[in-house]
Amino acid sequence: MHLTFTIQRFNPEVDSTAHPQEFRLDVGRGMTVLDALIRIKNECDGSLALRYSCRSAICGSCAMTINGSEKLACRTSLRKELERHGHITVAPLRNLPVIKDLVVDMASFWKKIHDVHPWLVSAVWPAQEGLPAPTKAEDQANPQFHNVDACIMCGACVAACTVHEVSKGFAGPAALAKADRFLSDPREAPSATRARLSALQDDNGIWDCTRCNFCVEVCPKDVKPMEAIIRLRRASLERGFTTTGGARHILGFTDLVEQQGRLNEAIMPLKVVGFAPRGMLRILPLGLTMLLKGKIPNPFGHALLGLSHFQAFMRRVRSARPPA
Ligand code: SF4
Ligand code: SF4
Ligand code: FES
Repeated sequence: MHLTFTIQRFNPEVDSTAHPQEFRLDVGRGMTVLDALIRIKNECDGSLALRYSCRSAICGSCAMTINGSEKLACRTSLRKELERHGHITVAPLRNLPVIKDLVVDMASFWKKIHDVHPWLVSAVWPAQEGLPAPTKAEDQANPQFHNVDACIMCGACVAACTVHEVSKGFAGPAALAKADRFLSDPREAPSATRARLSALQDDNGIWDCTRCNFCVEVCPKDVKPMEAIIRLRRASLERGFTTTGGARHILGFTDLVEQQGRLNEAIMPLKVVGFAPRGMLRILPLGLTMLLKGKIPNPFGHALLGLSHFQAFMRRVRSARPPA
């Protein structure tokens, strides 16, 4: 079968911007996008730059944008892409600087991984006298790493992240999932866990995620970074990190729903910014706009029917929750 591939090209030595280039190639059954790109490089244009190594979805180096979404080229079937989209377009990962053609600069990705201290800070290492040093997680009760260890550092989640698109400083899904890996490790010292969580409360940390779920959708290893971020948030709240806007939003939201059975948009902004004059001044324009558009309900409106049943249900949920 004769196929046309549209590949985004960019050579910093001659191009001011990226541009598409078409290649025609005879393809066989069972070929992957990476197979086709290697043949294009070998048979059509040796200057095409791409990165790959294992060709088996292990090394993570062939992640790129295929027909608009982040995928590993070595495990993306040409036939399936064609059936779904009717064409094959290939571009580098988004949100990372392009070095050449399909090769992106991963330096910022690695720095963010390094910044979350992706190593174990053990409470009992080296071994104290008279105590055997546990060296395996199985020595402890029920270790759960939630598949975060399966990450192959491909960068697809960062490329798909809607927050990273507008805020390059955001720690990002891969690094935050890595932080969660160590939070889940029963061998880590409690003081280290606290320090780890404390560092993630800052701007660009766990509260910046908008929970768009794109990192979960594109991850080729089912790491589910967004769920890792939610675990980090829950652990932060349980350990008393409650002063950030994000934490206050969650606590204010649940308080209001528990008290009134629904969200009250008139009170919610105050739950987030508090009664400090600076915060109130910041939300004043938004409040006025909402008022003018009739979006602010009466904060003292009537109680919902069945509210007491709902509150009893919430109390049962709270008491059934395992202790922090
Ligand atoms: S869920 Fe959060 S971390 Fe994941 S892509 Fe969306 S904003 Fe980024
Ligand atoms: S979390 Fe998934 S998408 Fe992100 S770097 Fe790891 S393997 Fe790739
Ligand atoms: S070449 Fe290693 S993951 Fe694709």
